[in-house]
Amino acid sequence: MLEEALAGLAIRAGVSARPRIFIDATYGRGGHSGAILSRLSAGDTLYALDRDPEAVVHGRAAFGDRAGSMAEFEIEQRNFAELAGWAAQRHLLGRVDGLLMDLGVSSPQLDEAERGFSFTVDGPLDMRMDPTTGESAADWLARAGEAEIADVLWRCGEERNSRRIARRIVEQRALQPLATTRQLAELVAAVPGPRSHKIHPATRTFQALRIHLNGELQALDAALAALPALLAPGGRVAIISFHSLEDRRVKRCLKEGALRVRSGETLPAVFARPRRCFPSAAEVARNPRARSAVLRVVERLP
Ligand SMILES: C[S@@+](CC[C@H](N)C(=O)[O-])C[C@H]1O[C@@H](n2cnc3c(N)ncnc32)[C@H](O)[C@@H]1O
Repeated sequence: MLEEALAGLAIRAGVSARPRIFIDATYGRGGHSGAILSRLSAGDTLYALDRDPEAVVHGRAAFGDRAGSMAEFEIEQRNFAELAGWAAQRHLLGRVDGLLMDLGVSSPQLDEAERGFSFTVDGPLDMRMDPTTGESAADWLARAGEAEIADVLWRCGEERNSRRIARRIVEQRALQPLATTRQLAELVAAVPGPRSHKIHPATRTFQALRIHLNGELQALDAALAALPALLAPGGRVAIISFHSLEDRRVKRCLKEGALRVRSGETLPAVFARPRRCFPSAAEVARNPRARSAVLRVVERLP
């Protein structure tokens, strides 16, 4: 949803009256960053963040060495959960003209077997966006209690078969620890229970583990809470979500910011009415991973 997100950010091409500040909080492989940069001018700055060190290496190689006539580009390895503190340190509060968040995992994270995110390619059961910190999926599945595993599969994956899958994982690890994505995918596929014929039986389990291990929903909540203080008046936010757990949070935050009614008391609204958009049929045909994407855009009121 590149064009739609850029239209949502309303970046006017050419030199502006004052230097503009944009943030791509989920650099990935820089598709959106590159498009934003192409619309900015000398004096403007695009800050990019990603918690994945490989994304940061990519960003420095792709855009780190820019000539003086172009907008500045800076990329940092950082969890966007820290957006408020990071922006305060850099004196960016109230000055950001546009912020993009394209949530979830990048195509290289899914496609590279050794990252351990995918049930379609065999690799070590890792699933960390930042493999230098935290616990891998294999380590967590080796130590978590059965009820805890079932709870994560239900809360973060809405997996209706969560209890049976958790029981099978605990039975299996007593014989041999789960070490690879294929072992986990095959174990889940062999568990009897309710099934959707539209998705692979391990889809929801992999989604749940990824969301839990990377603290994705907590990070999203923290970033959403930072938005009102971050944006300049008229500043825009564009957020692309890939599943309802994310989109529900985004929708609630943006709507509450536009309404600002708390315990019967009406507060001044911080956001204009949010807008929503879905990928075109042509984009879904080109890139089936986009099928569940939702873009929400909102503008900070003066
Ligand atoms: C869908 S991809 C972004 C793709 C990107 N828009 C592009 O055009 O290439 C999501 C990226 O966000 C990063 N990410 C996810 N959660 C994050 C977080 N809490 N903090 C920082 N980066 C995060 C992932 O590591 C991944 O690289």
